[in-house]
Amino acid sequence: MIRRMLSTALCAGTLMVFGPVLAAEESEYGVLFVAPGVEETYYACIACHSERIVAQQGLSRSGWEDTLEWMVEEQGMDEIEDPDRTIILDYLAAHYGEDRPNYPN
Ligand code: HEC
Repeated sequence: MIRRMLSTALCAGTLMVFGPVLAAEESEYGVLFVAPGVEETYYACIACHSERIVAQQGLSRSGWEDTLEWMVEEQGMDEIEDPDRTIILDYLAAHYGEDRPNYPN
């Protein structure tokens, strides 16, 4: 995965040299879809990795619950307490569900 991210970064660099071909509009929350819950999600998840890793996933609500558990148990994330946990899960399930409505380009 790191290698994939590196080559993405290299591509982005090349594009900047040759003109802003893919200058996607990004909000202060990066590629995350702006809707209620985006702020909580963004700040909880970018402590360790890009929000792109989140945006590239498409999971059901229970899939996202498993992912958060995995972040806590294996990746060293602090447990997220309610109400933030529910806000974040609602946000992820609504905007990064299995049909991937906001898959980043
Ligand atoms: C304490 C650090 C930390 C935090 C905070 C964190 N993650 Fe992660 N996350 C990781 C690490 C490390 C990996 C890479 C694990 C691997 O690929 O082995 C990862 C990978 C992922 C992946 C990719 C899984 C895959 O199959 O490739 C997703 C999705 C993800 N995190 C979601 C989240 C979400 C959503 C949040 C916020 C609620 C979050 N993470 C917060 C450490 C963290």
